[in-house]
Amino acid sequence: MDYQTAFAEYETAAIQAINDSQNPEAIEAVRIEFLGKKKGRLKDLQSVLGKVKPEERPIVGKQFNEIKNKVSAALDARVKELKKPQKALSQIDVTLPGTTVEVGKVHPLIQTIDEFKDIMGRFGFSVVDGPEIEDEHHNFKALNIPEAHPARDPLDNFYLAAAETASGGPVLLRSQTSTVQIRVMEKTKPPIRIVSIGRVYRPDTIDATHSCMFHQMEGLMIGDDVTMAQLKTVLSMFAKTYLGDDVQVRFRPSFFPFTEPSVEVDMLWGDDWLEIGGAGMVDPNVLRTVGYDPEEVSGFAFGLGIERFCMKRHEITDIRRFYENDIRFLKQF
Ligand code: PHE
Repeated sequence: MDYQTAFAEYETAAIQAINDSQNPEAIEAVRIEFLGKKKGRLKDLQSVLGKVKPEERPIVGKQFNEIKNKVSAALDARVKELKKPQKALSQIDVTLPGTTVEVGKVHPLIQTIDEFKDIMGRFGFSVVDGPEIEDEHHNFKALNIPEAHPARDPLDNFYLAAAETASGGPVLLRSQTSTVQIRVMEKTKPPIRIVSIGRVYRPDTIDATHSCMFHQMEGLMIGDDVTMAQLKTVLSMFAKTYLGDDVQVRFRPSFFPFTEPSVEVDMLWGDDWLEIGGAGMVDPNVLRTVGYDPEEVSGFAFGLGIERFCMKRHEITDIRRFYENDIRFLKQF
């Protein structure tokens, strides 16, 4: 074999082996094979060199050194490359257009709830939770809703089939958060200032403004001398804080078994009166049931619909949108 061919073969094989090496061990093996001083392909090449005519030796020797340096440099470069972190820049096509990462968003109802808690917290109300599966005592009886009252009708409530409480009575998905009033008063002595926010369930026909599940914020304040004027102040301040100073609150006489007197609460938003919930002074019967003395303490309670506020603020026209989990809707808020 003439030296030209031998040089070319050596170089091609060395570069190929260097590029094929995927880890430090492999590249080290290539170094020993192609550049090792004692034996290997470089030694073989030197023996070819020994066979050229003496007058050609200086030129061939120069070529030999050049090829050796070239292979050595390629090997060093490959060693460096293999030391870089795995995801080398060369593996990422930086010319591709950037992709946006979809991050989750807080649901508009949860945003509203968070804001409600924040506002009521500033008024000195703490937040408590209550169970969504309730017994008749907390959903009706203790709230002064007697056995024969139409509010207990199975057609107006989600009673759970064959489910029994510890006391043996039927259970249902709570139809109002007023249940939490009872649970708190049963366990706590006055003064009380709480709100409770959560889901309630009613078998309403579902349409743009009705859902069989929705959210309420219950409020309860009990003390030595809690008055209707304070109820009105708290609700007016709440509405103004959430919606702006020009909001007006109106109270219409109404009836709830657990408050006396009772009112429906409306607020004026732009040109519309919007019903926001029910309220009133806690009925003496309710106070007695939880072991309070109506001569000693008084209180007010209110229940507001959360969806209403959220729909009004964001001009949402269909309540069903909240529960469909359509990301195109939800990511707008
Ligand atoms: N629980 C009543 C309802 O769901 C609202 C309410 C709460 C009324 C507290 C008075 C006092 O309609």
